[in-house]
Amino acid sequence: MNIKTIGIIGAGRMGAGIAQVMAASGFEVILMDIKDEFIRRGIDNIKKGLTKALENGKITPEEKEEINSRIHTTTRLEDVAKVDFIIEAVPEIIELKLDIFKRLDEICPEHIILSTNTSSIPITRIASVTKRQDRVIGMHFMNPAPVMELVEVVRGINTSDETFLIVKNLAEKIGKIPVESKDSPGFIVNRVLMPMINEAVFALMEGVATAEDIDKAMTLGANLPMGPLALSDLIGLDTVLSIMESIYKETKDLKHKPCPLLKRYVDEGHLGKKTGKGFYEYSNKT
Ligand SMILES: NC(=O)c1ccc[n+]([C@@H]2O[C@H](COP(=O)([O-])OP(=O)(O)OC[C@H]3O[C@@H](n4cnc5c(N)ncnc54)[C@H](O)[C@@H]3O)[C@@H](O)[C@H]2O)c1
Repeated sequence: MNIKTIGIIGAGRMGAGIAQVMAASGFEVILMDIKDEFIRRGIDNIKKGLTKALENGKITPEEKEEINSRIHTTTRLEDVAKVDFIIEAVPEIIELKLDIFKRLDEICPEHIILSTNTSSIPITRIASVTKRQDRVIGMHFMNPAPVMELVEVVRGINTSDETFLIVKNLAEKIGKIPVESKDSPGFIVNRVLMPMINEAVFALMEGVATAEDIDKAMTLGANLPMGPLALSDLIGLDTVLSIMESIYKETKDLKHKPCPLLKRYVDEGHLGKKTGKGFYEYSNKT
């Protein structure tokens, strides 16, 4: 399959990062979001990412310009109908994703693969609203997409071998390391990571220690590069909550019940770095 142009739905934290990665690997990108202001925020974040890459000597000023010029934007879903491959990165809300996949299935040519960056929603469920279940797959990038090497390639029950191989090859082409996961709640990374973050929030809620000390204990004691609370601020507390809710809904296992304190932060609009406040405060929102 000859993939030249990639359509990315959602210009948030992940969509913008993935757009940057794809454009840096030579693909033309059409980045779609619902409002101009969200597109602008996504493009600003890409520009910041590229400026950092330039300062670190990873790209030249000419490459920065070229990468920028490969990213096109739109607020109309219809404009992504002409791309060769789709990556959906809208918020982790099942109704929203199902609606988008239904519409994408209607507007994109039959042979086009529709992939989702979902962290926890079953791929088989998303595929079920389309007439191309063999060409729907999870392409789960980690955050921040330009930095993290892993991509989980998640097969729904009906995902074909051909689709899997195309996505695995695409991940390798953009310099990522793919791992294959079954369509199981949380896939691999979040199945292990999210319960740890949730437990850290329980520890905070129960007054076991301060946020700083919980993170210090886990970085120094478990040799993690970042504490679980700081990491959840980076991921977005709404995303963490959605993933926990989704895993809990699928497994019905009490060990996956989201911590009430996590819900309270989300209700208050304290979503982490992107809103300037989560378990910590931030002067520069992303
Ligand atoms: N944040 C993370 O650490 C992380 C990591 C891996 C995967 N993910 C997954 O990636 C997806 C996106 O997460 P995010 O953190 O980038 O969220 P985000 O909230 O930062 O961005 C989502 C974007 O989608 C846009 N959007 C909403 N409705 C839309 C629609 N109908 N059409 C087009 N765009 C629409 C929003 O305006 C927003 O810009 C989720 O499925 C999430 O689970 C997130």
